[in-house]
Amino acid sequence: MTSETAQLTIDGVVYELPVVESSTGEKAVDIRSLRNQTGCITLDSGYMNTGSCISNITYLDGERGILRYRGYDIADLAKNCIFIEVAYLLLTGELPTYDELEVFKRDMRRYALIHEDMIHFFDHFPPNSSPMSILSTMVGTLHDFYPEMDLDEDPYGGITTTTARLLSKIRTIAAFSYKKNVGHPLVYPRVDLNYCSNFLNMMFDRPIMPYNVEPLMVSALNKILILHADHEQNCSTSAVRLVGSSGAGLYPSISAGINALWGPLHGGANVAVLRLLETIRADGGTIDKYIARAKNPDDPFRFSGFGHRVYKTYDPRATIVKEICHDIMSSLEIQDPLLDLAMEIEEKISKDEYFISRNLYPNVDFYSGIIYRAMGIPTNMFTVMFALGRLPGWIAHWQEMNNNKESRRIGRPRQVYQGVAHRPYVALERRQ
Ligand code: CMC
Repeated sequence: MTSETAQLTIDGVVYELPVVESSTGEKAVDIRSLRNQTGCITLDSGYMNTGSCISNITYLDGERGILRYRGYDIADLAKNCIFIEVAYLLLTGELPTYDELEVFKRDMRRYALIHEDMIHFFDHFPPNSSPMSILSTMVGTLHDFYPEMDLDEDPYGGITTTTARLLSKIRTIAAFSYKKNVGHPLVYPRVDLNYCSNFLNMMFDRPIMPYNVEPLMVSALNKILILHADHEQNCSTSAVRLVGSSGAGLYPSISAGINALWGPLHGGANVAVLRLLETIRADGGTIDKYIARAKNPDDPFRFSGFGHRVYKTYDPRATIVKEICHDIMSSLEIQDPLLDLAMEIEEKISKDEYFISRNLYPNVDFYSGIIYRAMGIPTNMFTVMFALGRLPGWIAHWQEMNNNKESRRIGRPRQVYQGVAHRPYVALERRQ
């Protein structure tokens, strides 16, 4: 809290509201006492301008294109770390030492199996079920197979047995949901493989066609998961916090986050981008037609993969995703016409007044699907990949919310009611 206050005048009466300052100097007017002082609430649909909590996890400056986890720049982490090192950072607040990382890796291997009874569930989803619906359901059922412990062991100071289990098992669930979707036998986790290699092996190893874990793919997967690992109070993270604030456990809260991520305006955008690129290509590559549609206020069509609530400049994650995309394509000598099309779209949009004036730049989802395609990951798994990456962030926020008396309050927004104020009851026989 600073000594500064903000003044608000309502009906000629001046009210003083405290001002809170962030560690990077942004100010926020603390309106928690507003209703008691004035009888008024604030109205902010879509939470465009509402700080829902005080957090120490991730810093995002949308005007300058800065993203930092626990103070470290995203580019440094993506360049130098593996995914679970960053998960450790988000969860505990510090990068692990060599020994801590080795213990954490061992735990990721130790918890990788899922209860055999859970496997029966996979058999009963209808064919072609969405891997997102399977993922959220199965994560919810972890609550019953692995009851969360009140006095959970916390050997790392921020990573309990429950969280370590979830981090490890989610990969197995994700890979099994893919195998069930394509009707192939399940591939179990291997004790000799690390986090990302194990996931790729569970996805792509087949009895008749053993999979050779390709270091380039492992490195790309580590980077892309790091880029998705947290993004402060986005829709799915807010869902996790909100559900958790009711006292719901970790697994049901994360299951809610997975469902929130699914939509095409959030994590589902990576699927929407791919579908759009395919549509434009099938339509003869007519980009201008789609740009015209995006600009037409009467047409709900939007260019998926462009724009962001917070970034008003190039999304720093998109810069790195684009680099990874080019690295993979050139190293593996892959020609993907969708990459050429994506670059052509970006080029055209970057010169278009409509997009320039609204600060609409490519976001993390614009190029990520092309990388997944190069890895052999099918389109309906793209948002599952986002969920795997976002998991440490969700858990870190759930923990932070639970450990803080103020933010642990049940999330319960108010509303401005504009329905009928009051009317007398009309008996059924007299209704017209
Ligand atoms: N294509 C065309 N026009 C757009 C787009 C787009 N992708 N995004 C925003 N606009 C326009 C919008 O029509 C509006 O124009 P006007 O002022 O004339 O009405 C203006 O830009 C502001 O848009 P908004 O909807 O008020 O902005 P928002 O902050 O509520 O929405 C967004 C942010 C990400 C939902 C939106 O930009 C969008 O729908 N993008 C496409 C979906 C997408 O790529 N989502 C992934 C986001 S990154 C991953 C993640 O963190 O979830």
